[in-house]
Amino acid sequence: MHALRPLLLSLISFTSFTFAQSLPIDVREATISSLHSSLFSGVTTCRDVVSAFIARVERFNSDINAIITLNPDVLQIADSLDVSLSTGNATGALFCIPILLKDNYDATPMPSTAGCLALNSSTPTHDAPTVAALRRAGAVILGKSNLHELALEGLSVSSLGGQTLNPYDFNRTPGGSSGGTGAAIAASFAVFGTGTDTVNSLRSPASANSLFSFRPTRGLISRSGVIPISYTQDTVGAIGRCLYDIATALTVMSSVGYDSLDNATSAIPPSTIGTDYTSFLSSSTSTSSLSSLSTIRIGVLEGFFNRTSTNETSPVNAAMSTILSLLQTAGATIVNITDTTTYNATAISSAMDVQQLEYRESLTAYLSSPNLKGARPLSMPELYTTNLTTPEFLVIPSQYSYVETALRSSTGNASYFTRQSMIANLTRTLHSTFLAHNLDAIIYPEQKNLVVPVGSPSQSGRNGILAALTGSPVITIPIGFSPATSSAPIGIPIGMEILGLPWSEGTLLQLAKSIDDRLHARKMPVTNGLNETVEVTTSYVTVPEVTLLRNIPAAYPLGVY
Ligand SMILES: *[C@@H]1O[C@H](CO)[C@@H](O)[C@H](O)[C@H]1NC(C)=O
Ligand SMILES: *[C@@H]1O[C@H](CO)[C@@H](O)[C@H](O)[C@H]1NC(C)=O
Ligand SMILES: *[C@@H]1O[C@H](CO)[C@@H](O)[C@H](O)[C@H]1NC(C)=O
Ligand SMILES: *[C@@H]1O[C@H](CO)[C@@H](O)[C@H](O)[C@H]1NC(C)=O
Ligand SMILES: *[C@@H]1O[C@H](CO)[C@@H](O)[C@H](O)[C@H]1NC(C)=O
Ligand SMILES: *[C@@H]1O[C@H](CO)[C@@H](O)[C@H](O)[C@H]1NC(C)=O
Ligand SMILES: *[C@@H]1O[C@H](CO)[C@@H](O)[C@H](O)[C@H]1NC(C)=O
Ligand SMILES: *[C@@H]1O[C@H](CO)[C@@H](O)[C@H](O)[C@H]1NC(C)=O
Ligand SMILES: *[C@@H]1O[C@H](CO)[C@@H](O)[C@H](O)[C@H]1NC(C)=O
Ligand SMILES: *[C@@H]1O[C@H](CO)[C@@H](O)[C@H](O)[C@H]1NC(C)=O
Ligand SMILES: *[C@@H]1O[C@H](CO)[C@@H](O)[C@H](O)[C@H]1NC(C)=O
Repeated sequence: MHALRPLLLSLISFTSFTFAQSLPIDVREATISSLHSSLFSGVTTCRDVVSAFIARVERFNSDINAIITLNPDVLQIADSLDVSLSTGNATGALFCIPILLKDNYDATPMPSTAGCLALNSSTPTHDAPTVAALRRAGAVILGKSNLHELALEGLSVSSLGGQTLNPYDFNRTPGGSSGGTGAAIAASFAVFGTGTDTVNSLRSPASANSLFSFRPTRGLISRSGVIPISYTQDTVGAIGRCLYDIATALTVMSSVGYDSLDNATSAIPPSTIGTDYTSFLSSSTSTSSLSSLSTIRIGVLEGFFNRTSTNETSPVNAAMSTILSLLQTAGATIVNITDTTTYNATAISSAMDVQQLEYRESLTAYLSSPNLKGARPLSMPELYTTNLTTPEFLVIPSQYSYVETALRSSTGNASYFTRQSMIANLTRTLHSTFLAHNLDAIIYPEQKNLVVPVGSPSQSGRNGILAALTGSPVITIPIGFSPATSSAPIGIPIGMEILGLPWSEGTLLQLAKSIDDRLHARKMPVTNGLNETVEVTTSYVTVPEVTLLRNIPAAYPLGVY
């Protein structure tokens, strides 16, 4: 880009003469690279790019209910980037790239609500370090997306934001907990969005919305300034429509490096500092055999499939079979990992998950931090007992025991030590599986069945727990769709996890690219005209307010503790 700048500058002056007003910009499926081409050739302005995304939110958010708030500063930010553009100072890998943040990331001047009514006024005084890094790289924070309340389940329903719907089938959930980000990015409300992942939450929304995401190696990206659940399991990452965009997000977010407020970052190997993860996607620099796939060895976890044959499971198994044939045809070696006793997601979750033991301490530390202002509960127990007459949070029936246990548990429990020992053993076992079979990666469907309908008690069948406990990196990619139905005109998206050893993000991106180059599974949604262009009819003077649709399914009462 640097070498091109003199040429681009002359193009800008030429085109601004030719077009008194910039051409309408079509932001459906826009990427960092497509927007940069339009901006740097003078075909459009940052103000017009931002306005085009706002117009999509205005037109379609009432269909999918993915956005909690728009950033009131966004037009000013766009205008200041236009000044940089006109003075030849358009720098940053994310220059004028509109992004959305899951509403558990601290970003001024917006509140960080986690979708919880009780936190509607809880406002950060500082950006999370990852948010600051995204802004430094030129990203335009368009707003905040809905999530499953406090990121505790995968249905993406919350007391503040209501139920987000899947853009491919309005009868289905968008996965979760980062489901607002998933639905919004599928609908081209922004270029990419951030999420968090304690068990599945960056991967389930990617899988359910035909998108790509990364869950980084535990420690690679600072989690400070993000509403926490679990010190052991939480990670932050991004969800996007193409690998290049999420690799750019990974490069920018990991540039935070060591953060004294998140000591997991002390594990970052010096050799990974400053890595440009997009370099793993360029075919010219990819010297490894991964692009040919012929010497690749990939494990498949048999225990992470549901082999019963129903409309909910068979499409997932069929999509995975297609991938395995594709890999074998390309010369890859597939190793069937048949130890279904060790690799049983249900059994691993119930024996080893430590969220309920860490949640109270982690959330209280966040809520009592001096970096928040505004009325709010100051501890996790206070949140859940705030007000018995006006419940201000939502707990779906399947979560009651989770919250009850978390209210009286801590890392001081004897069971915490037992679970951490089992996690250490699972991590050794997983590494042994990699080494014994000389594997480059392990694959399995993110979810054994299609993403569940709205009103279901939980987001069942997901396989995220293995990476969550072992701190392994995962790239999730779209691999297909179920058959079309009357409510799902192009079917329901299906996604696959590609899991690696710690710090193998580059290898995973290369492998994801060689599969995606052959498959091209991502499709935009068509429901209710989501695939149509939206004209910007208003010249925005202020940012429109988002109407929150509190469409909470009757099956989920607002909780009272
Ligand atoms: C160019 O942009 C950078 C980053 O936004 C800013 O710090 C710098 O002051 C700008 N330089 C000029 C000459 O405008
Ligand atoms: C937050 O919610 C309370 C009631 O629960 C309401 O009175 C207040 O206006 C809300 N604040 C904001 C900033 O929306
Ligand atoms: C790291 O931070 C966690 C949570 O803040 C704390 O429990 C742990 O003791 C710290 N570990 C080290 C090695 O400082
Ligand atoms: C399963 O799918 C088939 C064809 O796609 C359809 O005819 C049938 O009604 C579905 N069964 C159920 C139980 O939904
Ligand atoms: C793996 O082995 C199991 C049990 O032997 C078998 O049912 C399954 O089809 C195999 N999977 C692959 C991908 O070959
Ligand atoms: C460690 O994991 C292996 C493989 O699942 C299992 O066979 C073994 O019993 C476990 N050891 C302990 C001490 O939990
Ligand atoms: C997986 O674990 C669950 C819960 O422990 C158990 O009910 C199920 O039978 C196990 N599945 C296999 C294939 O071992
Ligand atoms: C509880 O709700 C009542 C009625 O809305 C309100 O007057 C009171 O201030 C609330 N208490 C707390 C602690 O939020
Ligand atoms: C932790 O200890 C408390 C107090 O003994 C107990 O009520 C709770 O169930 C324990 N939690 C777990 C997850 O073991
Ligand atoms: C497998 O799928 C069937 C049918 O959808 C479902 O009833 C069952 O609970 C699933 N089993 C697991 C372990 O997910
Ligand atoms: C949008 O999708 C509908 C239904 O598949 C199709 O008829 C229409 O041509 C599509 N529009 C565009 C602009 O692609």
